Amino acid sequence: KVKKDKMTILVLGLNNSGKSTIINHFKKSNEQSAIMVPTVGFLIEQFYNMGVCIKAIDMSGATRYRNLWEHQFKNCQGIIYVIDSSDRMRFVVVKDELDLVLQHPDLRNRILPILFYGNKSDLEDSLSNVKIAAALGLENIKDKPWHICSSNAISGEGLDEGIQWLVQQIR
Ligand code: GTP
Repeated sequence: KVKKDKMTILVLGLNNSGKSTIINHFKKSNEQSAIMVPTVGFLIEQFYNMGVCIKAIDMSGATRYRNLWEHQFKNCQGIIYVIDSSDRMRFVVVKDELDLVLQHPDLRNRILPILFYGNKSDLEDSLSNVKIAAALGLENIKDKPWHICSSNAISGEGLDEGIQWLVQQIR
């Protein structure tokens, strides 16, 4: 089997979860942004990891733009779902949005890997991976490979472990 050298990954999650900060970390230092602003609609970014060119579609997580997510489902080979592990108030919304993604007809019968980042692990009231997985019912995902890792997108901690898992699943 010829190994893939290009892949398209969709980056999903509620607004303020840290999607753009995560993608920024993966870009070369001269291409990084110094300040993060909320994404409007979506942004297409590109970076390299483990010799693979990754096209990352950074979707806005704001309520009014979440209806744009589904238009990208057919296009992608993997998903990164970012969770603010300290935002307990919105875990129910995180789960509702995730369930909509998992049940979508364009994804339902596909073996598409999903990487969860339990982001903002540096914050005092952040939940562990085990608790996030339980709150979101991740053990019920039977048709797709998934993996969760804690991350701190500001220091970069945990990000590489996650993306390496995802790249290995796809290629
Ligand atoms: P939208 O574009 O609105 O969907 O947001 P987003 O998910 O892209 O979030 P963004 O990357 O813009 O980050 C939101 C805020 O959280 C920024 O102020 C980041 O600096 C901050 N942030 C991101 N990751 C972390 C983290 O791991 N720890 C902490 N403490 N703050 C973080």
